[in-house]
Amino acid sequence: MEKFRIRGGNAIKGRVSISGAKNSALPCMAAAILTAEHVILHNIPYVRDIITMRRLLEDIGAHVLTPELRTHKISAANIEVMTAPYELVKTMRASVLALGPLLARFGKARVSLPGGCAIGARPIDLHLAGFTKMGAEVYLEAGDVVARAPDDGLVGAEFDFEKISVTGTENLMMAGTLARGRTTINNAAREPEVRDLAELLNKMGARVRGAGTPRIEIDGVEALGGAEHTIIPDRIETGTFIVAGAITRGELEIKDCNPEHCNRIIAKLREVGVEIEEVNQSTLHVSAGKKLKAAELTTQAYPAFPTDMQAQYMTLMTQANGRSEITETIFENRFMHASELQRMGARIQIGHDKAIVEGPTKLIGARVQASDLRASASLVLAGLIAEGETTIDRVYHIDRGYEKIETKLKAVGADIERVRESVTSPLSPEEDVAAA
Ligand code: UD1
Repeated sequence: MEKFRIRGGNAIKGRVSISGAKNSALPCMAAAILTAEHVILHNIPYVRDIITMRRLLEDIGAHVLTPELRTHKISAANIEVMTAPYELVKTMRASVLALGPLLARFGKARVSLPGGCAIGARPIDLHLAGFTKMGAEVYLEAGDVVARAPDDGLVGAEFDFEKISVTGTENLMMAGTLARGRTTINNAAREPEVRDLAELLNKMGARVRGAGTPRIEIDGVEALGGAEHTIIPDRIETGTFIVAGAITRGELEIKDCNPEHCNRIIAKLREVGVEIEEVNQSTLHVSAGKKLKAAELTTQAYPAFPTDMQAQYMTLMTQANGRSEITETIFENRFMHASELQRMGARIQIGHDKAIVEGPTKLIGARVQASDLRASASLVLAGLIAEGETTIDRVYHIDRGYEKIETKLKAVGADIERVRESVTSPLSPEEDVAAA
């Protein structure tokens, strides 16, 4: 098990480069299952979830090469099994992204049903209802979801998401590429990652229109071919570094990002007093501004403020003047970081879907525990400004989605180190991983 040890108080200053978006790389890797030709993906972040997806692809018979750093060359020419095993699905829910492509190309798929996890129930009923509407038979067998297409393949259908789902939209979009006729997805997720996947699929020969809007239409084709694609920058990592610069009263140049994808994050952080300048199309300049002031926040699907930035915003609000009410509308049980922040001295009242933060408060270093990916990021941010030493346990959560966060922070002046209590490598998939 590994920990971060942080000594707070340093303003972080300098330049940081943003990695590729893991939430875009994961579906794009799954999309490679749709073709027997090579799919080459650049700007793949070096994070644990990517290693898990790579293992899943290799487990089913695909070949994944890394011809150069952050590039994956995937060949799914010889898929042997259509099953994503429990061992992988339990560590990463996004394994369900294998369902749509397997079902579309091979007519069958078996994926272990993701259990409950640290941030709420997170069912996949909508993905399954979509496949059923496309003619698949879907049933549960020994804890696995089994899906079978009709003998002559999936049929295009119109599906209305009663709740917006990112991976649900991606799964149905991938399934639709090889279905007979037109698939229409209403109330689709509009996240930049959905658009990025559609761009890759179209390069592979798919006919997807409307990605990035609430209505996506896919005209099925006979087969898809190979393609080469560069993954978009990670907007959540970008937002996390904006907060890091602001909360430590530092000054950061954030490179290799896409400010357009971060519009609402930037607008919110400017509203509370952070100074953010758009230097060019891929660079932001962040400084602390005069004084942080509290503001309410409600998380919602894109283009609104993302749930994946809620925890980091909460840490920022512990340093703002006044009272901020934070409402989480996407996931239940996503305030676990709040009780850890309380242990560091934050004044937070935690309700069911609301948390009220009173600021500013002085944070004091403590031993705290990471409970999920974004919660861990909020604790790192708290550690950067806390008086004394903060130790964060279970940092494998942060390794799922942030590429070498401690190395990046150290390079801009933070006093942070990874402490190993065993000889296990930081990104080893064998390491004990809790469901998340
Ligand atoms: C994706 C992101 C995750 C982000 C989340 C919300 C990836 C790999 N992960 O997760 O980082 O926090 O979007 O922006 O892209 N729901 C159902 N039934 C379903 C599917 C979803 O009820 O079949 C509910 C969920 O419980 C949740 C809401 O819909 O309350 C949104 O979930 P969803 O967008 O599906 O999240 P993920 O795609 O798993």
